[in-house]
Amino acid sequence: MAQRESWATRTGFILAAVGSAVGLGNIWRFPFQVGQEGGAGFVLIYLLFIALIGFPVMLAEFVIGRRTELNPVGAVKQLAAGRFRYAGWLFFTTGFLILSYYSVVAGWTFRYVLLGLQNDYVADVAGAEQQFLSVASGLDAVLFHALFMLAIIVIVGFGIRRGIELAVKVMVPAIIVIMIGMAIYAFTLEGSGEAYAYYLSPDFGYIGSEWQNILPAAAGQAFFTLSLGMGVMITYASYLGEDRNLAEDGLIIVGFDTFIALLAGLVVFPIFFSAGVNPGSPGAGAVFVTLAAAFGEISFGGLIGAIFFFTVAIAALSSAISILEVVVSYLIDEHGMDRLSATTIISVVIFLVGLPTTYDIVVLDLYDKLVNDILLVSGGFLIALFVGWEISDFAIDELEQGIGDLGSWGIAWLWLLRIPAVIGLLVVVLLGISGYYDFLTGDFAGWLEQTV
Ligand code: PHE
Repeated sequence: MAQRESWATRTGFILAAVGSAVGLGNIWRFPFQVGQEGGAGFVLIYLLFIALIGFPVMLAEFVIGRRTELNPVGAVKQLAAGRFRYAGWLFFTTGFLILSYYSVVAGWTFRYVLLGLQNDYVADVAGAEQQFLSVASGLDAVLFHALFMLAIIVIVGFGIRRGIELAVKVMVPAIIVIMIGMAIYAFTLEGSGEAYAYYLSPDFGYIGSEWQNILPAAAGQAFFTLSLGMGVMITYASYLGEDRNLAEDGLIIVGFDTFIALLAGLVVFPIFFSAGVNPGSPGAGAVFVTLAAAFGEISFGGLIGAIFFFTVAIAALSSAISILEVVVSYLIDEHGMDRLSATTIISVVIFLVGLPTTYDIVVLDLYDKLVNDILLVSGGFLIALFVGWEISDFAIDELEQGIGDLGSWGIAWLWLLRIPAVIGLLVVVLLGISGYYDFLTGDFAGWLEQTV
């Protein structure tokens, strides 16, 4: 078997992981979740999940990947006995499913870049909604979904160093710089003060009455945005090849991701408020509709919108390649396929699985909720249980490689995984399942009835 690939540099690994973390989750999903879940209270709970559960789980994934130097399915199989042996399959399935609709949404963003360049955003919300429907469904959506998949096939096909590492070295710095620029621009807009107040001051009454919805949404968002719970970080760490300080790397990655998510709020909400559109309109399409309407309203909106959506599009690219790499690494490691055929074949299947979501946004919601509210958090739950309880002795030992004696920090890490992560995530999974059931029997059933 050919020698396994590895990152060329430490920055390469960190940029790839930041590139994976920073994506549609930060710039599309985060603001629409904040809007839907009532503003700053959601942000607060989300931050708690990031720090207390997300970060420890990320380190757990790193440890599994670096120790085994394998794809998630193979890694779990190698380390686990008995009941955990097959947990890796959950990661494979989740990755597969995420990418199938992630690519569709990413396709919309490319389409919105073009609309901006043609100065075609529609200023009133009803018109913008019509426009969104034509972008998000039908032939256009399929076409851009296909183009996006093609782009990531090319990058992942070139492999770790010449594909992924090279791409993220250009994309990640660009994303960070443009987003900072956009936030400064948004600050100058009329109404930005009101927007910051909405975004940054939590309403504890609302948290108290809506916690059953806010908790799973915030936990799912934390996992989604950090690319956790489906083996991306296992896979990326499996290409490390040498020992270095994973805790430090993890802090940098979590730090950048959180920074960009919070920054995205500072960009999006002032734009909403200045154009007088409602930030709380729910649904996966809302951010596109409201933003496009807002860009249609403000001066130079076409150009600014094009730059904004372009940033979202490259952020989506640098995330999507990490999801594809999970699935591809499995086919290479476990089935001895060559990289290019693995990448191409699996991408065609993923493309097909994503097609139903181009039919109607409700189908996309069906995928997204399943992934976010149930699958990712279930994956995180299994990782916490596995690393915290099953392989804890050598997990600490592995984390200490490249750091040195962790002392009580190591113990704290383990106990965060063992109790808060395991119990918290279990609760969240159960709430997620019940919420999903409500969605299936409510909104989704209603939609089905209307359509067929
Ligand atoms: N973290 C990515 C984002 O925020 C999405 C993602 C989820 C990527 C899971 C990989 C795995 O857009």
